[in-house]
Amino acid sequence: MNLDEKVMNSDSGRRTFLKTIGGVGAALAAATSRGAAQGSPDRASGAKYMGDFAAPKLEKVKVAIIGVGARGSGHAAQLASIEGVDFVGVCDLVEGRAKKAADGVTKKGHKPQVYFGDDNAWKKMLAETKPDAVFVVTPWNLHAPMVIEAMKSGAHAFSEVPIAYTVEEMWEIVDTSEKTGRHCMMMENVNYGREELIYLNMVRQGVLGDLLHGEAAYLHPLREQMENNDSTGSWRTFQYAKRNGNLYPTHGLGPVAQYMNLGRTEDTFGRIVSFSSPAKGRALYAQKSTKLTNPEFKTLDFKGGDLNTSIIKTALGRTIMVQWDETTPRPYSRHNYIMGVKGALAGFPNRMSIEGVTKDHSKGWAEDEEWEAIASKYEHPYFKRMGELGKKMGGHGGMDFLMLYRIIECLREGQPLDQNVYEGCFWSAVGPLSEKSVAEDGMPQVFPDFTRGGWKTTKPLAIIS
Ligand SMILES: NC(=O)c1ccc[n+]([C@@H]2O[C@H](COP(=O)([O-])OP(=O)(O)OC[C@H]3O[C@@H](n4cnc5c(N)ncnc54)[C@H](O)[C@@H]3O)[C@@H](O)[C@H]2O)c1
Repeated sequence: MNLDEKVMNSDSGRRTFLKTIGGVGAALAAATSRGAAQGSPDRASGAKYMGDFAAPKLEKVKVAIIGVGARGSGHAAQLASIEGVDFVGVCDLVEGRAKKAADGVTKKGHKPQVYFGDDNAWKKMLAETKPDAVFVVTPWNLHAPMVIEAMKSGAHAFSEVPIAYTVEEMWEIVDTSEKTGRHCMMMENVNYGREELIYLNMVRQGVLGDLLHGEAAYLHPLREQMENNDSTGSWRTFQYAKRNGNLYPTHGLGPVAQYMNLGRTEDTFGRIVSFSSPAKGRALYAQKSTKLTNPEFKTLDFKGGDLNTSIIKTALGRTIMVQWDETTPRPYSRHNYIMGVKGALAGFPNRMSIEGVTKDHSKGWAEDEEWEAIASKYEHPYFKRMGELGKKMGGHGGMDFLMLYRIIECLREGQPLDQNVYEGCFWSAVGPLSEKSVAEDGMPQVFPDFTRGGWKTTKPLAIIS
C-alpha cells in the first residue's frame, strides 16, 4: 500500500474501508473538484438552506455511535447519562471496544445493540436501530462517508473534528444535509469552554467594540501518539507523513469564528494564505523512540511541517492567524485571542486589556485575580446553568459534556444547533485550503461559500441560557 492509500484507508483495525463503502465512496470519488476558486455549485432542486434550521422536537433522542476508541468511549459514557437519550446502538471495528462501551451504556439503563468486526457493520446498525442522531467518532477519512450515510438513513449526524478533510467531501456533506433536511454538526467542543463562552459573551456585549483580528491555534505536543499503534497514532501518523498544512484547525478557530460571527450575517470567510516550517521533529522523535510498535514509522518521510501558520482574511477585511503544531515540545496553547478597537482578550494564560476597564495597557495585562474579577461578571448564562455539572461529568474540563448536553437539548426542544453544517465545513476547510496554499508557496486560496450566500441572513449565535 502506498502512502496515499494508507492515508485514505488507515484506521485502527487496518482495514481498507473505502474499497467496500460502495455508493457513498463512489459518490465522493465522483464529485468533481468543486470549491475554492470555482464558486458555489447550484443548490439541488428541493434542497433547502440549513443555516437557521430547527428540526421538529424529539421527546426521546434515539442515539447511536460509530467508533468508541479513545474519544468515542467518552462520548458514549456521557451521552448515556443525559436525560432524554435512548441509546440504541454502539459500533466499532474492534469487538472488545464495542462491547466495553456498550456495557457502560447498558449500566446506565439503556439496551443498545452492539455491532463490530466488519467495516460496514455501522450500516447494519443504521438500518436496524433507526437512530435519530448518529455520533461519528472514527478516523478522519471516515467522517464524511459516515455522516452522509447517516443523514441519508434519516438521522441527524454529528461528526468529530474535522468534519472532513477535502473540500469535495464538504460539499457532499452540505448537499446531503440540504437534500435530506437533517442536521450535520461538527462537534467543536472548545466552543463550550468557560473562557471561550465568557469571551463570546463579552464581544457580543460590545466590550471590545468593532473586532479587528483574532489568533487561534492548536499547539499540543502529541508525538508520542506514534507509539500508540492500535488507536489514534495508527492512522494519524500517516496523515502527518503525507499532508503538509494546517491539519487540525478547528479547536482554536471555532471560538474565534463565533466571536466574529463568521458565516452569520456580519462577516464570512474570505481567503487564506499558509506556510509550513520544515518537517523535522516527527522523524527525529521516531528515530529516538524505543516504544514504536510500528517500525515503519521510523522510515516514514514526514512531509508535514512541524509548525503551520495560516492567515485568514474575512470578507470585512479582518484577519485571523491560525497555527498548528503537534510536534514541538512546549506548553499547550490554543491562543484564543480576540482584538477589537477597545482592547484584547487572550488565553493561555488568560489575559485582558480593555480601555477604561482594566489598568492602563502600558502597565501590562489584567491577569489572575484581576482577570477573574472582570471575566466572572460576564460568565455565560449556559455555563452558569451547566458548568458545575459539566465539571463533575468531565471531558476536557467539562466542555465535552456541555456540548453533548446542548446537542440533545436542542434536538428535544426543536432549537437550531449552536454550530450549523456550514460552520463545520468553513472551519474544517482550513485543512485542505492550507495544504493547497503551502503547496503553492503561500498563494491565497478562496474559501468556498458553502452557504451559497445564505450567511448574509443567518442569525448570529444567540447567547443562550
Ligand atoms: N474534540 C476533541 O477534543 C477530540 C479529541 C480526540 C480525538 N478527536 C477526534 O475523534 C476522532 C477519533 O479519534 P480517536 O483518538 O478516538 O481515535 P481512535 O483510533 O482511538 O478511535 C477511532 C475508533 O474508530 C474505530 N473504527 C475505525 N473504522 C471503523 C469502522 N469502519 N466502523 C466502526 N468503527 C471504526 C476504531 O476501531 C477506533 O476504535 C478523530 O476524528 C479525532 O480527530 C477529537
